[in-house]
Amino acid sequence: MFSSCVVLMCGIIGYIGSRKASEVITDGLKRLEYRGYDSVGIAVVGEKGLALLKEKGMVSDVSLALDFTRLEGNIGIGHTRWATHGAVCKENAHPHTDCRKDIVLVHNGVIENYMKLKSALVAKGHKFSSETDSEVLAHLIEEKTKTLPLLQAFRMAMNELEGSYAVAMISATDPEKRIFIARRNSPLIIGLGKGEMLCASDIPAMLKYTKTFVPLEDGDIAVLVRNGYKAYTLSGHETVRKQITVDWDADMAQKGGFLHFMLKEIMDQKHFIVQTLASDITEARSQIDRYKRIDIVACGTSYHTGMLFSILLQSMGKCAQAFIASDYQFVAKPDKDTLVFAISQSGETADVLSALRHAKDSRKIAITNTMGSSITSLVDSTIFLNCGPEIGVAATKTFTSQLAILSKIVYGMERLNPVSNVIGSMLEKENEIKAIAAKLVSKEHAFFIARGRSVPIAYEGSLKFKEITYIHSEAYPGGELKHGTLSLICEGTPVIALAPADESLPKLIGNIKEAKARGAFVISLTDSEDVSKESDLTIPLPKNLDPALHPFAMIVPLQLLAYHVSVLRGINPDRPRNLAKSVTVE
Ligand code: AGP
Repeated sequence: MFSSCVVLMCGIIGYIGSRKASEVITDGLKRLEYRGYDSVGIAVVGEKGLALLKEKGMVSDVSLALDFTRLEGNIGIGHTRWATHGAVCKENAHPHTDCRKDIVLVHNGVIENYMKLKSALVAKGHKFSSETDSEVLAHLIEEKTKTLPLLQAFRMAMNELEGSYAVAMISATDPEKRIFIARRNSPLIIGLGKGEMLCASDIPAMLKYTKTFVPLEDGDIAVLVRNGYKAYTLSGHETVRKQITVDWDADMAQKGGFLHFMLKEIMDQKHFIVQTLASDITEARSQIDRYKRIDIVACGTSYHTGMLFSILLQSMGKCAQAFIASDYQFVAKPDKDTLVFAISQSGETADVLSALRHAKDSRKIAITNTMGSSITSLVDSTIFLNCGPEIGVAATKTFTSQLAILSKIVYGMERLNPVSNVIGSMLEKENEIKAIAAKLVSKEHAFFIARGRSVPIAYEGSLKFKEITYIHSEAYPGGELKHGTLSLICEGTPVIALAPADESLPKLIGNIKEAKARGAFVISLTDSEDVSKESDLTIPLPKNLDPALHPFAMIVPLQLLAYHVSVLRGINPDRPRNLAKSVTVE
């Protein structure tokens, strides 16, 4: 019985050079673990041939227990896996091999036609040891090497795959000692070192060795040797891909003394926001002036940015709408008169990429944090967040940076000059927020309410809260409570009210009173005495704040609240269950 292994995302790393490959790969896997943490494996080719170790569990535990770094050799590949279907077990962990234990590979993505390929290979006598789609590829390449040299066999096998893949493969008997890689709809980047080459799903895994990278494009394959690489199209033509240099350093992808990446990334916002605000938005601004209809496509946290962006664009008289990217193809008909903004920190979210393909006739602009990501090749221009790598699964600094970009587009730079200080002043409230978090630890539900421009921030506060605390939470425009949700409010139910003193405040105070009358435990983010009087607890917002800065002042305490409740509940906020950092299947 075959069972499907749908992989949302995994981490791949490969190394060839003069260092001990197992050390480079183990270190890289630790940096990639946010991409998957169900199981982990490594394969190295040394003088004694192929050595392979894999097991279910986290990188740090498995690499220590199996002693990955005892493997000798200068060429190898590694993988950290995150699966939603199919057993998490040693057999399904990568790397996978062919029948002869010669071809060994790691794969990220979903080979949609693997059942058909597998049946044909079984009929030819191939023996399988896992349930995964990925193992099929090793046997397919093995089959092709019966008549073709290794590179052609690899390329021809890629031509037969349907679905998505990022693949790194080595062969125990390859006299030329090469790493073969390929990608389609799943990221894979080459790292150019001096006398050494790397490949990985993400740049942070390679930052210790190089800052120069070549992101592969969809349909590319490439062959890495110690001193260089060659890239080819699927039809076998040699091709050249753009080289990029990043100014990130390896420390940015470390915790830097913080208990979790998430806390570091929340605290870093004060500094990174300045870098983000240096991004050039002139082209986007002039395109907005040219188009009447503006669609925004995004998912999750990035969708909340899109919601606020659409509200602000509407206030400029634009016909703007934010769409959940996964539904865009079913509900929207973008044309040549539509300007489409795609917001995605990773630049790899499959739903967003597919929404962009749906908008094939439109002008498209991406807002992303990831140079060389897939999104950049599907749009006419890109605005980069420049806020450094975000490792925690929960988006924090990338959300704030997205807010900064859209605010700069809408309000201009001047009104945003105080933003770093505003974020800093909210970060200083961490101890107060921690005390509030202690009161929420054993709650089962939480409701976030707001009005007008604050509603997208309430949605984001609620998403952050539920994804890392596992407490059920919902966000509503305050006016909606009485249309149904009020029935869920009872004695002690937390209601978190985002209540900056703007034109919507009088109405929101009415909603707070409605909740209070049913016994809600109200926590307000506010600069209004009237709201404080109605609340059980208040997180004060700075007085007389420019409304352009309200989103920044409100999201920081909500991130800290979610973080501290998560930690108090004994959860690792960097790796919430069932979630992964970027979702590369639809
Ligand atoms: C939020 O904390 C999550 N990480 C998730 O909602 C995320 O924002 C969503 O998957 C979209 O990711 P993207 O920005 O990389 O496209």
